[in-house]
Amino acid sequence: MAEFVTVYEVGPRDGLQNEKEIIPVEDKIALVDRLSEAGFRKIEVTSFVSPKWVPQLADAAEVLAGISRRSGVVYSALTPNLKGLEAALAAKVDEVAIFASASETFSRRNINCSIAESFERFAPVMEAAKTAGVPVRGYVSCVVACPYEGPVAPEAVRLVAERLIMLGCHEISLGDTIGAGVPETISAMLDEVLRSVPVVKLAGHFHDTGNRALANVEIALDYGLRTFDSAVGGLGGCPYAPGAKGNVATGPLVELLEGRGFETGIDAEKLKRAEAFIKGRVGRLSGRNA
Ligand code: HMG
Ligand code: MG
Repeated sequence: MAEFVTVYEVGPRDGLQNEKEIIPVEDKIALVDRLSEAGFRKIEVTSFVSPKWVPQLADAAEVLAGISRRSGVVYSALTPNLKGLEAALAAKVDEVAIFASASETFSRRNINCSIAESFERFAPVMEAAKTAGVPVRGYVSCVVACPYEGPVAPEAVRLVAERLIMLGCHEISLGDTIGAGVPETISAMLDEVLRSVPVVKLAGHFHDTGNRALANVEIALDYGLRTFDSAVGGLGGCPYAPGAKGNVATGPLVELLEGRGFETGIDAEKLKRAEAFIKGRVGRLSGRNA
């Protein structure tokens, strides 16, 4: 039997958080429903963050209330603090994610606190999630480079990943936030992180600014990673990482994985229809051609 690779669809969150125009709630719901139908087992739907910081996702609760949940699909959301977690639990998410950074400046720009302070905020989030029986994923941003500080040392990434594991995260998603990674730098970073975190707990989250995201997925596959985050149509970026492009696009990622003999459980035709749908919507709002 073919080995399974989990494609964690983050387009509704990481993609749409960075679109200039705010996508109507019914379009977000329709996108998530199409992704559920296409066979994704994990969908990051939205974020419970400050609407002043990310107005694009201010409708998080409405989106989660409107989607048709398919059994077996994990619907998740980002929760930077206890306020976000409480709202996410009320909206009945299946998983939450806390997001830390390996770069001090990015931490301050993204969540308005130092790395050390971010862990003080995450501790009660973790405790409350545990009490509620909701698993917590941990992100590390800037695993290769920071938009403000430049190259980031692999050791800094390992230390943050290690702390997230110690806090109780079941999975660490390694974010190449600005898509600066190439197979050599991804390798150096993985060599270091794997000293502390077992490969089964790692996921790759590669933005495609440098058009190397697929090459980075390939090298990470060679290291044994079996979970990759991607965005339908390659939507998005990060509002606090100027110039960052979207995540690796889901369609080419699925093609690569299936071409290498892995199973993903994703229906390519349904995925294409979901992509055409959201690109049409984003294009219509921005005046761009889809
Ligand atoms: P802050 O201003 O320091 O927070 O922001 P605060 O606690 O001082 O509160 C200020 C105001 O925000 C208050 O409202 C709070 O109620 C409200 P006011 O009294 O002024 O009206 N507030 C909230 N509202 C709703 N939900 C909440 C919440 N928390 C506070 N959860 C904070 C700190 C973390 C909230 C802010 O910096 C923030 O929301 N940042 C989010 C930034 C973000 O979402 N970035 C993108 C996601 S990360 C990413 O894309 C990277 C990733 O993809 C991996 C990679 O690629 O590297 C994951
Ligand atoms: Mg990202």
